[in-house]
Amino acid sequence: MPPKDNTKKINNKSNSNLQVVKPLKTKPYNDIDLNNWKLYENIKTGTWWEFSSREKKNGHSYDYHGNYIPQIATQLFERYTKKNDIVLDLFFGSGTSGIEAKNMNRRCIGVELKKEMVDYVSNKFSPKELVVDVNIIQGDSANPKIKDKILDRLQIMGSSSAQFLILHPPYDDIIKFSDKKEDLSNCATTEEFYELFKKVAKNGYDLLEQNRFAALIIGDKYANSRYICLGFECQKRMEELGFVTKAVIVKNITGNEKAKGKTANLWRYRALAGGFNIFEHEYIMIFQKTKLKKVKIN
Ligand SMILES: C[S@@+](CC[C@H](N)C(=O)[O-])C[C@H]1O[C@@H](n2cnc3c(N)ncnc32)[C@H](O)[C@@H]1O
Repeated sequence: MPPKDNTKKINNKSNSNLQVVKPLKTKPYNDIDLNNWKLYENIKTGTWWEFSSREKKNGHSYDYHGNYIPQIATQLFERYTKKNDIVLDLFFGSGTSGIEAKNMNRRCIGVELKKEMVDYVSNKFSPKELVVDVNIIQGDSANPKIKDKILDRLQIMGSSSAQFLILHPPYDDIIKFSDKKEDLSNCATTEEFYELFKKVAKNGYDLLEQNRFAALIIGDKYANSRYICLGFECQKRMEELGFVTKAVIVKNITGNEKAKGKTANLWRYRALAGGFNIFEHEYIMIFQKTKLKKVKIN
């Protein structure tokens, strides 16, 4: 949370109670006052994020298998958005980004493929909020035509681009969200999943304001007795589109799993017998849409 007061006492012999107001020192992409940087103890700046439980207050609930924990949005929005900024979430699901955007005085546009999910999530917001604060679009985020619909909503909200992009795609086919052919969780192959992911990321890139940030939340998977690194493969596609990687954060997945507790022993046995390790992490990767000079690698 930002500090309540940006005045500092000066200890001075002539006037020990003099209050000096330091000017705010902020970056163009957040409201963090760098003149008071020590007061932002809640903001995580490391590459290991551990949360002991899932936030279930302030409109949030674990009502959708596959939704991310709200604390991720809290951290990201504080670090990479300003008040009133528009967050674009191209895999909106149960609307975690929208709820937290509203809680933090940000705005949000969410795109979700499943109509029933869009109807369900719309009930979490008032009719006025659905115009002013959180715009929800039913559609395919991989289709280039979705950009026109998003641009229409951006225009209604008084902007021509989004100020932050969130991508929390299905982790390939780990959870099957629907049997629609456009659904990234329903691809015939992992290669096809990467192709669709890149199309979504391209739409996001085009709609993101220059120099602003994007976050990719994703985990890896096992298939046919081998480790498939979905995270780094998707990162590669983001870089190919022009995004610059700023951070790769590893986060514990406590609070994400529904039934693992009951089957923990079974998984442990399978791990011991199969020579693999049980997933305890996922990634939050941070990117910037910026023109950095290409690094030469000899
Ligand atoms: C991992 S979930 C996102 C959950 C969300 N972050 C939340 O907290 O509720 C992925 C979502 O992407 C949706 N999806 C899959 N393919 C899509 C596509 N082509 N366009 C839009 N949404 C898609 C799925 O229906 C699912 O709801």
